[in-house]
Amino acid sequence: MTEALRSMTYSSTAASAFGAKELADLLASSRAANLARDLSGMLLFRGNRFLQVLEGPESVVRELVDRIRRDPRHRDMRILVDEEIEERRFADWTMGYEVLNVPQKAAPEGFRDSFDDLDSDDDTVTARALRELTVWFRARSSNPR
Ligand SMILES: Cc1cc2nc3c(=O)[nH]c(=O)nc-3n(C[C@H](O)[C@H](O)[C@H](O)COP(=O)(O)O)c2cc1C
Repeated sequence: MTEALRSMTYSSTAASAFGAKELADLLASSRAANLARDLSGMLLFRGNRFLQVLEGPESVVRELVDRIRRDPRHRDMRILVDEEIEERRFADWTMGYEVLNVPQKAAPEGFRDSFDDLDSDDDTVTARALRELTVWFRARSSNPR
């Protein structure tokens, strides 16, 4: 039997001095590593915060999240979602990526609230905000792989 598919989402705060060069390096190495490990997902960077979704075989996802948690390039990792999934939501992206400028004029109505909602202590609010972000990301990002 093949291993169950897992999806984990976390938010974190970038360590100081996380610039365009650092992001480009991070994405390049992450995409290559994720492709090799059968992982997919997305990474959003807005202001000083990361939001990442990682999906793939459960043991692989857990191992990577543990490693990412120890990465000194960010801190305060908070797991927002940890769930089994039937099928991938980001199958076309080894690590889809968007920088969201503040203020984000191109963002859809309510988007700003969605991102802020991720910090909610109410799990229902967080889950809804993440669903909206997922739909938004998939519609917007036409640069898979
Ligand atoms: C915000 C953030 C997201 C990351 N995402 C990934 C990822 O999707 N895939 C990956 O292999 N490494 C990712 N990394 C890098 C890992 O933390 C780690 O540096 C990398 O897996 C190499 O680990 P190693 O030096 O122990 O081999 C991420 C790091 C940060 C700070």
